[in-house]
Amino acid sequence: MRIGVLTGGGDCPGLNAVIRAVVRKGVGTYGHEFVGFRDGWRGPLESDSRPLGLADIEGILTRGGTILGSSRTNPYKIDGGLERIRENIVALGVDALIAIGGEDTLGVAKRLTDDGIPVVGVPKTIDNDLGATDYTFGFDTAVMIATEAIDRLQTTAESHHRAVVVEVMGRHAGWIALHSGLAGGANVILVPERPFDIGQVAEHVRHRFEQQYAPIIVVAEGAVPTDGAEVLHSGELDAFGHVRLGGIGQWLAAEIERRTGRESRAVVLGHVQRGGTPTAYDRVLATRFGLHAIDAAHDGAWGTMVALVGTDIVRVPLEEATRELKTVPADRYAEAEVFFG
Ligand code: F6P
Repeated sequence: MRIGVLTGGGDCPGLNAVIRAVVRKGVGTYGHEFVGFRDGWRGPLESDSRPLGLADIEGILTRGGTILGSSRTNPYKIDGGLERIRENIVALGVDALIAIGGEDTLGVAKRLTDDGIPVVGVPKTIDNDLGATDYTFGFDTAVMIATEAIDRLQTTAESHHRAVVVEVMGRHAGWIALHSGLAGGANVILVPERPFDIGQVAEHVRHRFEQQYAPIIVVAEGAVPTDGAEVLHSGELDAFGHVRLGGIGQWLAAEIERRTGRESRAVVLGHVQRGGTPTAYDRVLATRFGLHAIDAAHDGAWGTMVALVGTDIVRVPLEEATRELKTVPADRYAEAEVFFG
């Protein structure tokens, strides 16, 4: 078989580890051939491909980002997109695709499979918000980076008797905020799933100062005050209908300062959370996903996605994976709340 591989959506540490495992097992065990499509769905749409043999994947296990490039191209938003993909993959002699991506990329993979193009999916997102899999690779790395930042910010905040608001990624799901906040001993953690009362946040901050600690407030970019709305960087929508978030950290710091009279600063971690080498956990998970994805393609299990359930890698229908986002449940948030204030 000749298989096209692509990576779509926001990049994520571990993408290269998946590509390496797919090609190593695909060539070595099954004798398949590979083509790399550039920049997510833009690759098959515009027939932009590159060779993807054993030589092309040497030394990429530890490298962040993706050697194939990524984009948020949505072929179903482009006139004749489906037909163009169909024609291009036939012209390149490609029999099937392995698509590595989050809810948007995998949503397209599901539709393409329904439209007769064979695809196997691999879940990816630092946000860890994909249904049907316990964890996605990239999440552990993002949490580690955010936790290290919180540790460092804690010492400088203590020295200056300031409150520091740390804004982390997470549009609709607060997993990064929850885990890094717990690991870093945050004073308050704010997630998109639970609108927050700014008066209560200011109260926690005051209390922490009274205990002679500098408060660290970890906020997911999609968190909203009870009487407000998401803070947008720009209202412009991408091809999958997402707005660009950003600014809640700055808003919170100003509001905390106004309400408590204590100096407050905001730090936005942004894409630092997505860059650089994956942790050992993410390298292993990504490698296992890659090995199982090529098995699924070899078996012709089209329309499925590999997923982590407990410690096992299983196959689940793409439909199940993309049906709804995995958000932070109330009981998990309650565990963190014990440490607030
Ligand atoms: O979906 C992953 C993610 O990192 C989100 O947490 C974030 O909102 C978004 O991508 C930002 O993506 P970009 O700035 O690359 O468009």
